[in-house]
Formats: sequence, structure tokens, C-alpha cells
Amino acid sequence: MPLRCAVLASGQGSNFQALLDRKAAGDLHVEFVLLIGNNSVAGAFEKARSRGIPCFHLVPSQFSSEEGYCTKFLEILTEHRIDLIVLAGYMKKLPPGVVRAYHRRIVNIHPALLPAFGGKGMYGSHVHEAVIEYGAKLSGITVHFVDEEYDHGPIILQRAIGVLDSDDPHSLAERVLAVEHACYWQAIEAIAAGRIVIEGRRVMGVGEMKDENNG
Ligand code: GAR
Repeated sequence: MPLRCAVLASGQGSNFQALLDRKAAGDLHVEFVLLIGNNSVAGAFEKARSRGIPCFHLVPSQFSSEEGYCTKFLEILTEHRIDLIVLAGYMKKLPPGVVRAYHRRIVNIHPALLPAFGGKGMYGSHVHEAVIEYGAKLSGITVHFVDEEYDHGPIILQRAIGVLDSDDPHSLAERVLAVEHACYWQAIEAIAAGRIVIEGRRVMGVGEMKDENNG
């Protein structure tokens, strides 16, 4: 049985689209059965709706307590029999109760090489602005399991790209996003295929990046 995935997204949903495309191409063997977002006008909602994928708009302000918010989140995930939660440009912190209930079953993609340029406030364009301002010569992407700290869980996959002298945050974001689209599905497919082995913080089984110096 293919893994039943919930996608959580806040924005345009280009990562969600890339995953749908990989599935359509026959490379990614999971089902996308649910979309949860914190912004009901986000492009990701439109993409899900047009495919008949159920969508839920969930934000803490709809509830009188944090507990009520978490309970509803868990209820929706349980109702849809979710095996894996895929954060695809999701800018909100998940309720800790959800993170605990889906231990090692939540993946995130971050637009930099963690642990650099991660943590609270480091999302979307802020990340690329920080990379440029710092003068880093490398950036890239990190796919990782989610734990209760921002951008902290075990790393599944990373890919690096060079920061060019001519880059501004916008051009860097574009090139990083292209790498996200090319790579996120590979981590999810490795999980779906049962290839992942976790030892402490080390996650093995996705396939290595080629070391250009050592062949
Ligand atoms: C992506 O670059 C993603 O890595 C980033 O937001 C963008 C969303 O693009 N996510 C984060 O910063 C999460 N901390 P998308 O909506 O087009 O997929």
C-alpha cells in the first residue's frame, strides 16, 4: 500500500507541484491525500482543490486554546489515515503534540544547508537574504525529519550550490528552488521504499552526493 501523505504548505506550492509531477511521471510512489495550510489563498490550495485533494485551513486563532488547535490537527490527520506529513513551504511551527504523534514521520525542506541559516525567523526569502549578507560561498537545500526544535531534526538529504558574486536574494532563491524541485521527491521516495535507516542523528539510504574531488 502506498504511503498516504499530507502536504502542509503556506505559499505558492511549487514544491507541492514538483512532487505531484514526479508522482505523475511514475517516479514517486506515494498518495497525496490531504492538504493543510495556514493561508487559504495560497497557490497550494488551488493545486490540491483542482485535483480533488481535501484541503483544510488551520490556524491557532480559530481555536480558543493551543490544545484545541492541536486536537483538531490530529483529528484531521487521523481521519485521513496519514502515514507521512510532508512540509512543502510550510512557514508555521507545528503543534508539539503533532510532532510527538508523528515522530520520524514528518519531513521538511529548508532552503539552505542546515544547521547554518536555520532556526526561528529563518524561512523563505529571509534565509537567502541572510546567506547573501553573511557572504557565504555555498548554500543549498536540506531535507530533514522534523522534531520539536526549528530546523533541527536528523538530515535526510542535502545538496549544495555555489553562491555567485552576481547573486541577490531573489536569484539565489530561484536557483535553490530548482534544486528543491529536483531533490525533495528523492527523500520521500526513499522513505516510501523503506530504504531509510536511522542511527542516532544519522540517516542513511537516500543516496550520496557525488564528491567532485574524489570522483
Ligand atoms: C521553499 O524555498 C521552501 O524551502 C521554503 O519556502 C519555499 C516555499 O516555496 N521553506 C521554508 O523556508 C520553511 N522553513 P513553494 O511554496 O514554492 O514550495
